[in-house]
Amino acid sequence: MEKKLIRIGLMGFGNIGTGTYATLEMNRSTIEQQTGIDFQITKILEKDLERKRDVVAPKELFTQNPDDLFLDPDIDIVIELLGGIQPATDFMLKAMNNGKHVVTANKAAVAANYDELREAAEKNKVMFRYEASVGGGIPILNALTTALKANSFIEIMGILNGTTNYILSQMTDFGLEYEEVLKVAQEKGFAEADPTADVEGIDVANKLSILISLVFGIRVPPESIPTEGITKITKDDIKRAAKSGNKIKLIGSAKRENGNLTYSVRPTLIPVSHPLAGVNNEFNAIFVKGNAVGELMFYGKGAGPLPTGSAVMGDVIEIGTAIVKGAAYDIVISGGKRK
Ligand code: HSE
Repeated sequence: MEKKLIRIGLMGFGNIGTGTYATLEMNRSTIEQQTGIDFQITKILEKDLERKRDVVAPKELFTQNPDDLFLDPDIDIVIELLGGIQPATDFMLKAMNNGKHVVTANKAAVAANYDELREAAEKNKVMFRYEASVGGGIPILNALTTALKANSFIEIMGILNGTTNYILSQMTDFGLEYEEVLKVAQEKGFAEADPTADVEGIDVANKLSILISLVFGIRVPPESIPTEGITKITKDDIKRAAKSGNKIKLIGSAKRENGNLTYSVRPTLIPVSHPLAGVNNEFNAIFVKGNAVGELMFYGKGAGPLPTGSAVMGDVIEIGTAIVKGAAYDIVISGGKRK
C-alpha cells in the first residue's frame, strides 16, 4: 500500500499539546501500519518557548503566528489545544474557513460556540471533531454518535470532572475538609492554580451542554444549566451521607420525562450500590440509559496528557483516514443539522 502523508498544525504545546505529540510519537509505527498514513506535526503554535516540558519537539516547528498554520496549503488538519473560549474559537473558525479540518479538546469553546463551529464545518465541508472535550480519554461522543445511534436516550448522568472527583474521594476516604484536599491536589498538579471552573461546576456544565446536544439534539448553553459546585461540601456532609448508605459525587445529569428535559450540575447523593459510587479520584464515568440498549457505563481517565492525547489522536486518525478515502466530511458530529 502506498503511504500517504497527512500534515498537522498543532495549536498549544501545554499539557494536552505535549500529550498529543507524545501519543503520536509513542505509537507512530502502529498507527502507520494500521492506516497506511504517515501523520506529521509540521507546525506548532506556542507563545511560551522557555517553559520546561517533558516532551521536546524540534525548534523549527514552533511559530507564534497563527497564520503560519491557517495559510499553509500543506496543512490538512489543525488541532486546537489552547483552552479558553477565545482566541481558540476564532482560530478554529479561521482554520475551517481556510479549508482545514479541526480537532479540539476545548469544552469551553465548543459549549459556548457549538452552533457557530458546526455551521463553519458544514459551510466549508470540513470535519470538526471534539471527542477529547468530554471525558478525556473515554470515547463517549463516538459511542453515542455511532454504535448507540439506534437508541432514543432517556437519561445521561456522569462524573465529568477529575479534579472535583479527586477532592470528594479524598475527603470521603480520609475524613478531610475541602480546603485541605484542594491544597494537596494543587501541589500534586491535579487541580489548576485557579480551580474555579472545576470546583464551581462550570467545567461539568460545559461538558454536559455538549452531551445534551448530541444525546437529545437540543442546544442548552452551559449558562442555562443550573450549576452548583463542591466548595460548600464539608466532611460532616460526607459522613452524614455515608451513614445513609450514600456517597456525595458532583454529577452532571440530563433526563427526559414525558417530553420534558431536565438538567443540572450539582453535588448528589449516590447510593453506594450505584456503579457511579465506585468511580474515585481523577477517574470519570458516564452512565447512559437508552431505550434499546438499557443501562451502560463508560469509565476511564477523564483528564491528563496521554488519555486526552489518545482521544485527540483518535479524531485525527478518523479524519486522516477519511481524507485518504476522499470522504472527509462527517455529518454526524462535525457539521450538519441537528434533529
Ligand atoms: N480540569 C478538568 C478536570 C480537565 O479536572 O477534569 C479535563 O477536562
